Amino acid sequence: MRATVAVIEGDDAAPEVVRPTVDLVDAAGADIEWRPADGGDLDAAKLVIDATDTCLFGSASRRSGRSLQYLRWGKGTHANLRPVRHIPGSISPLARPDGLDFVIVRENLEDLYVGIEGDLEALAPLGLGGRLGPPEQMGAGSFAVKAITDDGSIRVARTAFELARSRAESDRGRGHVTITAKTNMLPRTDGRFRDRCFEVAEEFPDIETSFYIVDDFARRLVAEPHSLDVVVMPNLYGDVLSDAAAGLSGGLGTAPSAGVGDDYSYFEPVHGSAPDIAGLGVINPTAQMLSAVMMLDHLGQSEVARRIEAALHSVYAAGAALTPDQGGRASTGQFTEAVLAAL
Ligand code: NAD
Ligand code: IPM
Ligand code: MN
Repeated sequence: MRATVAVIEGDDAAPEVVRPTVDLVDAAGADIEWRPADGGDLDAAKLVIDATDTCLFGSASRRSGRSLQYLRWGKGTHANLRPVRHIPGSISPLARPDGLDFVIVRENLEDLYVGIEGDLEALAPLGLGGRLGPPEQMGAGSFAVKAITDDGSIRVARTAFELARSRAESDRGRGHVTITAKTNMLPRTDGRFRDRCFEVAEEFPDIETSFYIVDDFARRLVAEPHSLDVVVMPNLYGDVLSDAAAGLSGGLGTAPSAGVGDDYSYFEPVHGSAPDIAGLGVINPTAQMLSAVMMLDHLGQSEVARRIEAALHSVYAAGAALTPDQGGRASTGQFTEAVLAAL
């Protein structure tokens, strides 16, 4: 069935990957009516987002940042699915990247992202000095609030365990969820996250569960990434470690994501707006294209999704039309032409 999709081109170099992605999705035969919206005009963007089935989002710097906030907090997209999958032919620092295929499920709304910061002196009336000593001895400084809720943790954990189950059913995964957080230093916030995740695990007796403290997990991510299936973690660790994981699998230019809620989902690359290469015509559109692939699966247009995925993989396998981040010399346009030809 025809889907309506809000398309927000984003900032800096992001439009240079969103436009070819829209062209590719159309060329692949998707049944989509695109509704463009300006991410810098929040009121207009909200109207378009609310009137469409989903959103393909190009990365934001400050300009479109509030539209991204609306897609997250306004639409209640509680989980950010960040697949880490090596495309054969893409660049990786690993000796044997083949077969790398796991998913980081990043809690998308809570943790240090609740948006409450202030001056330390505001804590003095509460007597909150923590390990820095009494508030009056601390001098000038600032604080940020980290908040973890039962509901938020349970929601994202269920998303992770359901994903592990569906990956196992399709032979893509091994029915395993890894939980990670900094529970030793943050027993109340991250401890709550871990405890709620383990409670959800009891609803999924077919799925194995492991827990590692996040610094230990970071080493495992680098040293044993093939052992991972689905990993669930609070927001900030998910932000940092998903860029690190992208570095392992094929670079930021190849890492897609989906922000998933109960009633709404949006799709954007893991990378940012790449201001340092804006206007040069060399940004790699693969991450944006694979985000569109995730969107097509969400819209039930999986045949089209598989065609685009296969075309992308064949261009990487051939290796003749790759962008500079992949060690190639192709422009964004030349890469896109090669994908269209493969299609
Ligand atoms: P970035 O991801 O934009 O860029 C980091 C480095 O990776 C740069 O050298 C860039 O050129 C390169 N890079 C990124 N994507 C690439 C691609 N597709 N092809 C080739 N090279 C690519 O991170 P940053 O520079 O820290 O952030 C720039 C802006 O983007 C900031 O304003 C940040 O807040 C924002 N940001 C937005 C999102 C989002 O909207 N989802 C995500 C991350 C960062
Ligand atoms: C991401 C980005 C965002 C985040 C920024 C732009 C707020 O880094 O989507 O990974 O920190 O979530
Ligand atoms: Mn990020």
